[in-house]
Amino acid sequence: MIFTKIAGTGSYVPNKVLTNDDLKQFVETSDEWIDSRTGIKERHMVVNETTLDLAYNASLSAIESAGIEKNSIDLIIVATVTSDYAFPGVAQLLQAKLGIEGITAFDINAACSGFVYALQLADKMLKSGAFQNALIVGAETLTRLTDWRDRNTCVLFGDGAGAMVISKSDENQIMDVITGAQGDVDMLLYCKNPDLKDPEINAISPQDHIHMKGPEVFKFATRIMPKTVSDLLQRNNISADDLDHVVAHQANMRIIDKSARDLNISMDKMFTNIDKYGNTSAASVPIAIDEAVRTNFLKRGDLFITVAFGGGLTWGGALIRY
Ligand code: UT7
Repeated sequence: MIFTKIAGTGSYVPNKVLTNDDLKQFVETSDEWIDSRTGIKERHMVVNETTLDLAYNASLSAIESAGIEKNSIDLIIVATVTSDYAFPGVAQLLQAKLGIEGITAFDINAACSGFVYALQLADKMLKSGAFQNALIVGAETLTRLTDWRDRNTCVLFGDGAGAMVISKSDENQIMDVITGAQGDVDMLLYCKNPDLKDPEINAISPQDHIHMKGPEVFKFATRIMPKTVSDLLQRNNISADDLDHVVAHQANMRIIDKSARDLNISMDKMFTNIDKYGNTSAASVPIAIDEAVRTNFLKRGDLFITVAFGGGLTWGGALIRY
């Protein structure tokens, strides 16, 4: 039986910070509204950096914290909805930038749940015996898809990347990972790809922005987050009291708060950093896990669940002994 563990974590955000007050120059809003409705105070935003740059910096930090030679990594999975190119993927460019030759590298898209999907894939690929050390990354430059005239969405999102090295272990540390999807036929949360508008003049439609029916996504989120945590607990015969922490997708403080109340888990156990970064989609979970580790909130031996939901619609969760 092959077991797996988190060997190291890393994260990176671009330098430029946009405060809630800064957003008043684009839309009619206020720090009071944004903070009280979402818990966000500021977010980071790329200026010249690409999604690859963010992924690369987070990866270097994760590899260093794992204490392994980068050449012992034989699998890279990047979860993103903001790949710099349709192809090549961020994962293949990351492989080249890290200077690791000829290994398996690919991107996946499951929106804000993407990192948990990547974790599930990498975990199963390691447990199959075919791979030794996986680098998994959530990296996003969501501000490129933001409609700065839409106050319903532009105040929510930010840029960043988080990374994790997972490796084989003597003990069962990545204990269980579950994911799910429910096709968003009602288009609650989407961003359309450009298409060829007029083949005769070879014109391509402009890049779309993020569209969201906020209150409906809120309802979905507050149903699916507690359900995913409950499913994980039930499958593994564990009670919520046995958990040291929950590291949830950072989309809205009220969603985290309501989920904790429904699960009867104290807010002290919930890691939050949404105030600094806003919603960074697939990067949100690995940035949060890395910060939880670096601030000593999450310690070796702790039992925690990480849980995410997002566009797709998708969701996922993992039960991990750190
Ligand atoms: O990763 C997954 C992605 N998405 C999510 O998780 C988002 C889930 N949804 C949410 O977090 C919340 O629904 C929002 C934060 C997006 C919105 O909060 P809400 O409490 O559901 O507000 P609402 O959309 O019902 O809007 C209430 C009011 C409206 O004004 P009226 O119609 O009552 O006059 C909005 O126009 O707040 C107004 N509003 C704003 N006012 C100031 C909406 N955005 C803003 C804003 N500043 N930025």
